[in-house]
Amino acid sequence: MTQPQPPAPVNPRIRIFDTTLRDGEQSPGVALGHPQKLEIAHTLARLGVDVIEAGFPIASPGDLEGVSRIAREVRGPIIAGLARANRADIEAAAQAVEAAEKPRIHTFIATSPIHMAKKLNLEPDAVVERAVQAVQLARSFVDDVEFSAEDATRSEWEFLVRIFKAAVEAGAGTINVPDTVGYTTPKEMRELFAFLKGALPEHVILSSHCHDDLGMAVANSIAAAEGGARQIECTINGIGERAGNASLEEIVMAFHTRKDVYGFETGVRTREIYRASRLVSRLSGMPVQPNKAVVGDNAFAHESGIHQDGVIKARETYEIMNAETVGREAAVLVMGKHSGRAAFRKALNDLGYEGLPDDKVQYLFGRFKDLADRKGQIYADDLRALVDARTDVPQT
Ligand code: KIV
Ligand code: ZN
Repeated sequence: MTQPQPPAPVNPRIRIFDTTLRDGEQSPGVALGHPQKLEIAHTLARLGVDVIEAGFPIASPGDLEGVSRIAREVRGPIIAGLARANRADIEAAAQAVEAAEKPRIHTFIATSPIHMAKKLNLEPDAVVERAVQAVQLARSFVDDVEFSAEDATRSEWEFLVRIFKAAVEAGAGTINVPDTVGYTTPKEMRELFAFLKGALPEHVILSSHCHDDLGMAVANSIAAAEGGARQIECTINGIGERAGNASLEEIVMAFHTRKDVYGFETGVRTREIYRASRLVSRLSGMPVQPNKAVVGDNAFAHESGIHQDGVIKARETYEIMNAETVGREAAVLVMGKHSGRAAFRKALNDLGYEGLPDDKVQYLFGRFKDLADRKGQIYADDLRALVDARTDVPQT
């Protein structure tokens, strides 16, 4: 395909900030113990994420200890602790990340009119003051401070510029723009980031943090990058508050597969993706839906005869990425009533029944279709039973 492509982005490297252990753990019903958190953190480091948000240390002594252990034991990524814009939170976060090789404090305050008036009961001026104090206090503990404007996408853009400039002057190096309630659209997100990029100093790293309430978290994160974001906050399997967060594996594989369009790159080792997904699903107790992109059971399974025939001839006919690229077994042909003769013969060959005469395969194929109609999916044992049963082809 030779369609005109946009020019390659300046500075194409996107930092992946994984918040599986913080926002992901905020999924209803999920509570991870220290050994589980540590195992996930090591897996995230092997995956190659740039930042691990290890928890919210003020939430409980257990959370603080969980973040501390990760800070002590996991090397490679930046280890971040979340803190609201107040002294107690920031001190807890500072204590928790103290032993990290690369510690970060991530502090936030809400900036939308509804949050400021109804939740914080603060005037905008007071919110800016709190943000500045929080960033300054955080900077007294660590060099790397991230500031977030909670509910940014429902905030006044001019107010965002005001508070972000103040936070940067106070010492924040990363400015995060959360779509806290999953309300924004890709177009809005791209424009907001382009606007902020133009308004803030060049050295600031803009970050997106999208929730999936309208199913647009991944699209919004990618749009943010197009607008100028160079850090994306996301979780494995997209777990998180309510409908979840932007899913790491979808963003990374979108950039990987459509590099021709986006031109972005991440430091993620894609072959570690599936292992990380399985681990998070098992330890969090949150199953992955079968049709989930990249990591779902069906993501690389072909059922229809037309597709199976195509894939047997050339995988690229129906596969835009290889299963092996994300650390999975090669794509599977699922045998069912939609399967065609080519896939049926291949399945028999794979089971060791090579060289069966054509008329026999034809006969077995008819019986296989009858069985598939009754049973749905057909497994290897069903095929063996078919072949090993009375195998004489009826003479007509
Ligand atoms: O969704 C959100 O606004 C958050 C912030 C704390 C970054 O998770
Ligand atoms: Zn969030």
